[in-house]
Amino acid sequence: MTVPVKPMNGATLAILARGVHKSFGVGANRTPVLSGAGLGIQRGEVVFLVGPSGSGKTTLLSILGCILTPDGGSLQVLGREVAGMSVDELTAYRRQHLGFIFQTFNLFPTLSALDNVALSLVMRGVPQAVALERARSLLAQVGLEPRRDLRPAQLSTGECQRVAVARALANEPAILLADEPTASLDARNGQAVLTLLTGLVRERGVTLVVVTHDNRIFSYADRILHLENGRLIRASKPGAEANDLSHLQV
Ligand SMILES: Nc1ncnc2c1ncn2[C@@H]1O[C@H](COP(=O)(O)OP(=O)(O)O)[C@@H](O)[C@H]1O
Ligand SMILES: [Mg+2]
Repeated sequence: MTVPVKPMNGATLAILARGVHKSFGVGANRTPVLSGAGLGIQRGEVVFLVGPSGSGKTTLLSILGCILTPDGGSLQVLGREVAGMSVDELTAYRRQHLGFIFQTFNLFPTLSALDNVALSLVMRGVPQAVALERARSLLAQVGLEPRRDLRPAQLSTGECQRVAVARALANEPAILLADEPTASLDARNGQAVLTLLTGLVRERGVTLVVVTHDNRIFSYADRILHLENGRLIRASKPGAEANDLSHLQV
C-alpha cells in the first residue's frame, strides 16, 4: 500500500525547497553534499529527516534554518524566498521566525536554567522582567519549575534538553529545527523529550523538522524524509511503505 503525499498548497507550506545544491571545499577538493534536494513541509507538520552519517542532514537543516546559504536552487520559508537574502537579512529572518535545538543543548554553563531561557528573549529586545516571567512559565511547561535556578552541570542531560526546548519555544517560532535532539540521551529520556517536544509544538501549531537516526523515536513523526546521495529520494509514514518524492525535485 502506498501513502499519498499531501497536495502541496502554497498557502499552507512552511518550507518549500527545490533543486538545492551545496558543496564544500575548493578546487579538486570540492565535494558536493546536496545535489538537487527538494522537499515541501506543511505548516504544523512534524517531519523527520533521516539518512546515513555524512549524507548532508545537518547541512540541509542548516540551509532550511537560514544558517547556511545554498549554492543554488530555491528555498521558500513561510512563503518568502530566502535563497537570495544577504547574511544580515537572513539573520533577522531566522531570529524572527525560527527556533533551534541541538544535540549537545548549547546552554550557557554559568547561567541558571531560568537565565538561559530568559537571555534568548532579552537578546531579542524583550524587557528583562517580561523575559523572566515568560521563561518561568515555559520552564513550568517542560516540568522544570523546581529546578529553574540550577546550572546545566547540576541538571541531568534529559533536563538540559528540556531547558533547550523551553528556550527554543520562548520566541514563539513558526518553525522549530532540531538536529539529533535525542543523540545525547538514553532511551527513556529520549522518549520523554520527544513526547514533550511534539506535544508542545502540536499545541501551538509549530512546524517541527527533526534530523535523527534514532529509530526509537520514528513513531513521533507525521512523515519521514530520507536523504540519500544529496537528494531527498523518498518519504514514508512511520511504519508505512516508502513514497516517491521525485516530483518535488527540480
Ligand atoms: N563546513 C564544512 N566544511 C567542509 N565540509 C563540510 C562542512 N560541513 C559539512 N561538511 C561535509 O559535508 C558532508 C555532510 O555533512 P553533514 O551535513 O554534517 O552530514 P550528516 O549530518 O548527515 O552527518 C560530510 O562529508 C561533511 O564532512
Ligand atoms: Mg549531522
